[in-house]
Amino acid sequence: MRRALALGALVAAAWAATEAAEEATTYRKHIKPLFEAKCAMCHGSDSAPELGDFKEAKEKWMADGKGMRMDTYSHLVAYAAWPDTGALMRRLDDGKNTKDGKPGNMNKYLGKTDAEIAKNLAVFKAWVGNWTLKRWKEITKEELDGIRVAY
Ligand code: HEC
Repeated sequence: MRRALALGALVAAAWAATEAAEEATTYRKHIKPLFEAKCAMCHGSDSAPELGDFKEAKEKWMADGKGMRMDTYSHLVAYAAWPDTGALMRRLDDGKNTKDGKPGNMNKYLGKTDAEIAKNLAVFKAWVGNWTLKRWKEITKEELDGIRVAY
């Protein structure tokens, strides 16, 4: 009897672990709140421009402390998948995948401590799926297929 109970508990624990591991990282549940806390002050909707507008007056926007608008699912996906393939990954990477071994220049905004940065980077990585830093011209169909970015 006791053995059966212990076995039952084990099965339940294993089941819970699988459930947790398989819980998909989604934009709504995981990325949106993180983005609002760490990125929206510069990439939010209140005054951040569309990428095309940003490019036309980059110096002006940067002087205002603004980056391009990225605070919706549709906007953010464009920086991971297409047309700005890999931009999100290049900017957030901690240096493990960059050509020069240095972190991307947005990595530091992921947190106040190294531990917080690592934790939040892991959330972005889980959301993206295939963490490739390749651009549209270099990426293969298979690599693109691995970019998940679930809503
Ligand atoms: C203090 C303001 C600021 C914060 C906070 C900030 N960014 Fe940025 N970001 C910028 C500016 C300005 C640029 C454009 C200049 C550049 O390319 O470095 C930029 C550029 C980018 C780009 C490049 C887009 C492209 O077209 O290549 C990505 C991706 C990005 N940021 C993502 C993020 C993410 C994700 C966060 C939150 C973890 C974040 N940024 C936090 C100001 C900020």
